[in-house]
Amino acid sequence: MSISVVLGSFYGDEGKGKIIDLLAQDSYIAVRATGGNNAGHTIKYGNKKFSIHLIPSGILVESSLALIGNGVVINPKVLINEIEMFRNEGVKIDGRLFISENAHVIFPYHIIQDKLEEAYRGARKIGTTARGIGPVLQDKVGRFGIRMGDLLSGIYKQRLEEIWDLKIGYLSTLRKLTRLDIELPRLQDVIAEYEEYALYLKPYIANTTYMLNEAVEQNKNILCEGAQATLLDIDFGNYPFVTSSNPTTGGIISGTGLGEMASNGSVNIYGVLKAYSSRVGEGSYVTEQDNEIGDKIRDLGHEYGTTTGRPRRCGWLDIPALKYAARVNGITGWALNHLDTVGKLKKIRLCIAYQRDGIITDEFSANETYLQDCIPVYEEFEMNFGDISNIKKREDLPENARKYLARIEELTGVPIAFIGTGADRDDIIIC
Ligand code: IMP
Repeated sequence: MSISVVLGSFYGDEGKGKIIDLLAQDSYIAVRATGGNNAGHTIKYGNKKFSIHLIPSGILVESSLALIGNGVVINPKVLINEIEMFRNEGVKIDGRLFISENAHVIFPYHIIQDKLEEAYRGARKIGTTARGIGPVLQDKVGRFGIRMGDLLSGIYKQRLEEIWDLKIGYLSTLRKLTRLDIELPRLQDVIAEYEEYALYLKPYIANTTYMLNEAVEQNKNILCEGAQATLLDIDFGNYPFVTSSNPTTGGIISGTGLGEMASNGSVNIYGVLKAYSSRVGEGSYVTEQDNEIGDKIRDLGHEYGTTTGRPRRCGWLDIPALKYAARVNGITGWALNHLDTVGKLKKIRLCIAYQRDGIITDEFSANETYLQDCIPVYEEFEMNFGDISNIKKREDLPENARKYLARIEELTGVPIAFIGTGADRDDIIIC
């Protein structure tokens, strides 16, 4: 039995989908633990491409169950669209997809609140995905939330009535303060809309924690599909420019109920990264290349958001940040993507430490004021190699590539387990 976790090591969009796809082939259960439809990745299935935001990619592996854990926040409309998309392609869903009864539900007022709060922040905006993620998690912690199990029992109607004035009162205040003319929802419309969703989703709502722990007892392989990334974590990330959940290992345990992860020696925690780096949204980014190099990386790596289409900020890899990610998550192996992309550049840089007040340090802190004072200390690497997508052994990679990989391992103290060598699903080296 093994539990494998795939999570983002930097600011997200590291290409978790590819490694998740690979590991899902041998998993009995693939489970999403955190985030919502702010996350997204594209997966190839046969000659088709799917853009998915909520359903674990394990759904495409016939022998696997796909679970959405309690830590995920769910927009039912988006989920139903995804189910329909897979159904239309002949993917079997019934009896394979299960949604935690404890997962919180996104309502239209959460999405409006997200937009209004961003407008209220003005120049200090976070750059959220505007999917209602922050507001639904505020309600979860504030104990005003509504869970999937409440849809099942019908109690959500009463809960909505209880909180309605509070929610609409807050939104009205925000609307006045921001002068944004967004139409507010009506209680009866929301109840009617969600009644349909509840009916549709009923067969999928389950006690996923029980299912997962039964699978542990039966020695089955479990794959936890992370969303977002370490530096977007509400506790360990670059606050306030973060998402509102814990995409790190701790959040994956609390987002599934897989306590076994804390005590079992056979847990593989794969930190996904790219051979360069990127970030979307606001906040400090020490190794950002806000210049023609960054533009070139964006073009070569196709760095535009799956969920929002936004161009991503691009730059070099940051070793102090990666060491921090390794420690916070207990990473056992890196999955490094886009080695082929940096091969198209003549030379690249690797930030090995920071200079702060004249002192060289490898100490990372996600604190905004700390990061603003960090000057990157770089090492330079020759790249300039051709197509590597057919290479299946690490030792067959060009020497320049091998040197770069070895230096990342040496500086972080974590071995590289997977290397992405091209855009296709099979363009991967298993180390
Ligand atoms: P929210 O999660 O929509 O509240 O957005 C908060 C911050 O997290 C913003 O900077 C988003 O761009 C960022 N973010 C959220 N989800 C993702 C993701 O899947 N990839 C990269 N950034 C993300």
